[in-house]
Amino acid sequence: MTAGVTAGVTGVPPSALDRLPTPCLVVDAAAAGRNIRRCADFFAAQRAALRPHFKAHKCTTLMRQQLAAGSCVGVTCQTSWEALVLARAGFPDILIANQVVDAAALDELAEAAAIARLTVAVDDDAQVGLLAAAASRHGVPVGVLIELDVGAGRCGLPLGDPSLVPLAEQIARQDRLSFRGLQAYEGHAVLRDSRSLPPGRTASPSATRCCSSRPTSTRLSTSTTGSSPGTAPRSPSGRSMAAGAIV
Ligand SMILES: Cc1ncc(COP(=O)(O)O)c(C=O)c1O
Repeated sequence: MTAGVTAGVTGVPPSALDRLPTPCLVVDAAAAGRNIRRCADFFAAQRAALRPHFKAHKCTTLMRQQLAAGSCVGVTCQTSWEALVLARAGFPDILIANQVVDAAALDELAEAAAIARLTVAVDDDAQVGLLAAAASRHGVPVGVLIELDVGAGRCGLPLGDPSLVPLAEQIARQDRLSFRGLQAYEGHAVLRDSRSLPPGRTASPSATRCCSSRPTSTRLSTSTTGSSPGTAPRSPSGRSMAAGAIV
């Protein structure tokens, strides 16, 4: 989606909204602008940078506004197709914050990696094999994060899982893959009144414990967390934050 950022939607009569062909993105441009500014200002004072998530609005115009506002290290998306759209639209640094195993999706991922610096999450050695094969078939470099489950109960290695370091080593051994660090989605904070997380259930303690003192190829160069609702009352625990619900 590239167009359709409409000014003053709040002033549009419901009858006009009723006539919009759906699905379509309806944006209160002034409110979106305020939210984007506020988020960039918040992150300007943090150790972590923003990596805004594409999945929420799927709109490259809004994504450009988010990057232009500052405090960003790149963009995040959830699927290979989104990554390809972003790469073709000129976004140079893309994280797919998800595991990719489907054959067609792996080809899309590799196509995106031919255009932009691409990073993807894994939580299993079979995924590493598939990724390595796709990267070498297409002759492209792919960065890899290992996802940890810090409580959302969706994907990721359980905290303390002994396969973490062997998995990082397996990634580092692949010609076209490089191990870039860890990902942890803190979406479970959404369901907590305080939005706070129990000790040890955020990305950073696990990140620091895990691959420090390892060979250079498996040292962390980054860690990324996610979930906007968990962000507001505290400093993000990773080095970048894949926030989606902020526009
Ligand atoms: C892995 C991951 N990171 C980041 C996000 C963005 O979360 P939010 O929209 O709460 O900011 C999501 C959303 O589901 C996600 O799955």
